[in-house]
Amino acid sequence: MQKYSHLNAILSPCVPAFPQQNSRVSTAIHIPVLLAEVLHVLHPQEGEAVLDATLGLGGHSAAFLDAIGEKGTLVALDADEQNLADAKAALQGKPGNAHYLHRNFRDVQGLPSPLFDVIFADLGVSSPHFDDPVRGFSFRADAPLDMRFDRSSGMTASQFIRIATEQELVEMFRMYGEFPGARRLASLLKAQLPETTSALRSIVETAYGFRAPSILPQVFQALRIAVNDEIGALKSFLETAPTLLRPGGRLGIISFHSLEDRLVKQCFRTLTTAEVDQHTGAPLQEPDFLLPQRKPISASAEEAHQNPRSRSAKFRSITRRLP
Ligand SMILES: C[S@@+](CC[C@H](N)C(=O)[O-])C[C@H]1O[C@@H](n2cnc3c(N)ncnc32)[C@H](O)[C@@H]1O
Repeated sequence: MQKYSHLNAILSPCVPAFPQQNSRVSTAIHIPVLLAEVLHVLHPQEGEAVLDATLGLGGHSAAFLDAIGEKGTLVALDADEQNLADAKAALQGKPGNAHYLHRNFRDVQGLPSPLFDVIFADLGVSSPHFDDPVRGFSFRADAPLDMRFDRSSGMTASQFIRIATEQELVEMFRMYGEFPGARRLASLLKAQLPETTSALRSIVETAYGFRAPSILPQVFQALRIAVNDEIGALKSFLETAPTLLRPGGRLGIISFHSLEDRLVKQCFRTLTTAEVDQHTGAPLQEPDFLLPQRKPISASAEEAHQNPRSRSAKFRSITRRLP
């Protein structure tokens, strides 16, 4: 982390304590994951246009705004209206033209800027999702079993369990979780139709006994991925985002589980591999994109120690070739 030490000044304003008067959020500190590495690789510069597809609490966007200055443009999206409003309030007073849109990143067409110099996504949940008990993301607090990022549309997790067939639940757990006994769990869920996080927790405890503590986070994560169609949204984003990069533009994605990372890795490999002549094997055309690092960037030991969530983060990026 030595080489990023000059970024400490940028980092500190991005580590806001959550507002105390807002009962929705805890007093935990928000730390943007891999911030120094993101800035180093995506290198937002004065006057550039940046798309932050996952604004969250605005930690990365605060640093983007500082870097692009008065003449820069930030378009920031979040599916979660509350996060969007909180981040917008926190970022008021920063330089730059900022546009905050309540939007799923599966749909990045027709944005206020047609092309971008930097596109960034930091996938998954933000701390308020876990800290705010009413959201239903955490098995540590009793709440309605909701789990939607966007509470204005779609099915809650309890509705999802009610509507899916037992077989669909089995397939979902096998696809998005890496734990045994999906069939028995699905059968218990269909029999009991949990409406709250505590009810789901006790079903998992019945199904897994002493193994439940290690299975619970995986069950909650799998349901969350399904309820928000996180993999479908990421696939759409990966199809469109590269087309929105200016020549020389940079696209970076932080993922937190292997399913997401595999999709990002495959997409970036395809975009940065030259097409070859099927008969001769000779490259036909240089690819439009370059891969600055073959391996994903992970958190330093120091960051992993300070912010346990960063331990599973993997950051990959591509650059659009200049003509
Ligand atoms: C890990 S947090 C981002 C944290 C942010 N980089 C920061 O520094 O505060 C992920 C955010 O993305 C949002 N999100 C997740 N999936 C989304 C999607 N498909 N479209 C738009 N926003 C999404 C979540 O609501 C959450 O606020």
